[in-house]
Amino acid sequence: MENVGNVLMQKYEFGKMLGQGNFAKVYHGRDINSGENIAIKVIDKEKVLKVGLIDQTKREISVMGMVKHPNIVELYEVMATKTKIYFALEYAKGGELFDKVAKGRLKEDAARKYFQQLICAVDFCHSRGVYHRDLKPENLLLDEYGNLKVTDFGLSAHAECMRLDGLLHTTCGTPAYVAPEVISRRGYDGAKADIWSCGVILYVLLTGQLPFNDSNIMQLYKKISKADYKCPSSFPPEVRRLLKRILDPNPATRISIKRIMEHPWFRKGLDTKQMTSTVEKEMPLVNADKLLFEPKKPDFTKVSSFNAFDIISLSTGFDLSGLFVENDKKDEVKFTSTKPASDIISKMEEIATSLKMEVDMKKGGLLKFKKPSEGRNGPLSIDVEIFEIASNYHLVEVTKSCGDPIEYQKMFKNDIRPALQEIVWAWHGE
Ligand code: ADE
Repeated sequence: MENVGNVLMQKYEFGKMLGQGNFAKVYHGRDINSGENIAIKVIDKEKVLKVGLIDQTKREISVMGMVKHPNIVELYEVMATKTKIYFALEYAKGGELFDKVAKGRLKEDAARKYFQQLICAVDFCHSRGVYHRDLKPENLLLDEYGNLKVTDFGLSAHAECMRLDGLLHTTCGTPAYVAPEVISRRGYDGAKADIWSCGVILYVLLTGQLPFNDSNIMQLYKKISKADYKCPSSFPPEVRRLLKRILDPNPATRISIKRIMEHPWFRKGLDTKQMTSTVEKEMPLVNADKLLFEPKKPDFTKVSSFNAFDIISLSTGFDLSGLFVENDKKDEVKFTSTKPASDIISKMEEIATSLKMEVDMKKGGLLKFKKPSEGRNGPLSIDVEIFEIASNYHLVEVTKSCGDPIEYQKMFKNDIRPALQEIVWAWHGE
C-alpha cells in the first residue's frame, strides 16, 4: 500500500502545496472516508539521513505523538514508504499568523490573545518535558476560528542549519527569534530559550517589527546578546515591564512561564478555561526507528515500540537490566543513557582525545578507539557501540577489541568510567 497517484495509503488525497522547507513539504489533504481537511507533511528520508537529521525527525515523531492541546497542531497519523515519511496533521485553515502581522501591527487585545494561547501551548509542552526550540512566525498557524496552533516540533532551526561540518549555514534565515545563550552555544535550558522566543514574538505582534534587526549578522548577535531593543513610546508601561523581564539576556534571571501567567498584562481578559484545557493524549505506539531503518539488533526489538517514558515507567525500581541481554563478556561494559546520541558521541570523542587515542566513526553507531602505540598484545583498541532503544534512550556497549587486558581495565576504571559518569543513567549489571 503506497502512494498511488495523488492518494496516500488509500486514505488521504493530496491537494495543493502549503509550504516547503529544506527536508519537508506540506500539502493540503483530505481524508477520503470522512472528507475532513488535513495537512500532510512529507519528509524525504534520504535527505534526512544524508544530513544526519535522524535524531530530530525521530524526536519530532515521538514529541508530536505526546502532545495534544487546543493550541498545538495535532498529529493524527504517521506513515512511511521506502523513501518518505508522511505526517497526517491537523489542518490550520487560517494559515500563518504572521501573514496577518505582515499587514500591520495588531491591536493590543488581539496581540495579547495570541500571546496567551502561545504561552499556554508552550507551558503544556514544557510540563511534558518537551521544548520547541524553534518558536518563530512560520510555526504559528491559525485555525478557522482564529485560534493559534503551534506546529513543527523537533526539526529545530539549529539542527536544520547545522550540517555535518558543524557550521551554521545560510539556509537558516534570521536568528532573530533565538535566545542569546543558544547563539553563544553555551549549554542552555530549553524552557528559558523558548520563553525568550515568545518575547520576540510578542514584540512582533505589537509592533509589526523585529526587536533585534541588523543586516550584519555579528551586529545582530551583539544586539541580541545585550537585549538591545527599543519599545515604541505607544507601548503601555505594563507590557514594557513584561517584555523587559522576558527579553532578559541572562536565562537564570529571565522570567518563568509561571510568572508570565501571573503578570497583570497577561491575565487581562484571560479565558481561564484555556489554561487548564490540557487534553491527555493516548500516545500512539509510533516506532520512529522502524520508519527510518531496518531494526538494528534483534535483541532489542522487544522494547522498540516504547519511548523512554514507557521504559522508565515499566521498569521496577529503575532497574532496567531485565530489558537487555545478560552481559557475560569480560572487558565489556554496558550502560544506558537518556542523552541524545550526539551527546554520547561527543563525550566519547572527548574521552578518546584526553587518552590520546584515535577515533574512527564506523557505520551503524560504532566508534573505534585506537592507541597509536603498540602494547603487549598489539595496539589497544576499544569499540563503543550505541543502540537507540527509544527516543533519547540509548544502550552503549564499551568493549576492548584488541590489546592488553590489564592496561584496558586500568584505563577503564581510572579514566573512562569517571568521565562517562555525566552521561550515564544506569550502569548495566550493577
Ligand atoms: N502549513 C504547515 N503546516 C500546516 C498545517 N498543519 N495546516 C495548514 N497549513 C500548514
